[in-house]
Amino acid sequence: MLGGMAHPIPRPTEGDVVELILTDHRLFEDLLHELRDVTSDRREVVSVISALLVAHGEAEESKVYVSLERKNAIDEHEVEHGEREHDEGYQALLALLEADDVTSEAFSSAIHEFSETLLHHIDEEERDILNAARTDVSAAGRAELGASWLAERNRLLDAGCGSPDDIRRLVREAQRRPS
Ligand SMILES: [Fe+2]
Ligand SMILES: [Fe+2]
Repeated sequence: MLGGMAHPIPRPTEGDVVELILTDHRLFEDLLHELRDVTSDRREVVSVISALLVAHGEAEESKVYVSLERKNAIDEHEVEHGEREHDEGYQALLALLEADDVTSEAFSSAIHEFSETLLHHIDEEERDILNAARTDVSAAGRAELGASWLAERNRLLDAGCGSPDDIRRLVREAQRRPS
């Protein structure tokens, strides 16, 4: 068990933004393993994933992507691509949040869809965005970004982000955005 009241999501306050994001990516992978396990409390796992997905991704968009684009480490296409993949993650997550039977074949397929979507994004982000932070941003810059990303991530977690309504709102906002 990794989340919930008894297992809160870690909330560090400083570090290198690349290392911090990688640590969350490993946590997502652990949560996916737990979600695939039919004997785990899948509803609980889904709610932990929802909170972390929103806090992690929204803080990347508002603090990390923007800053890397300003430093010319990544371009606007990479930013838009990353944001679109976050939106695809919320869409795939919605099927998990709205399911009434978490032991069904349909739920199992929805886990597969979500897992593919999330792992695809993690791979691309680590190669296309985090590499740019590694090579084009100084250690001091990465520490500054780490602190600002964490402050926003932790603020969102503390505010209780990732409720089903929150995910539905993010999906609606994505649908209104020109593609
Ligand atoms: Fe990420
Ligand atoms: Fe991301």
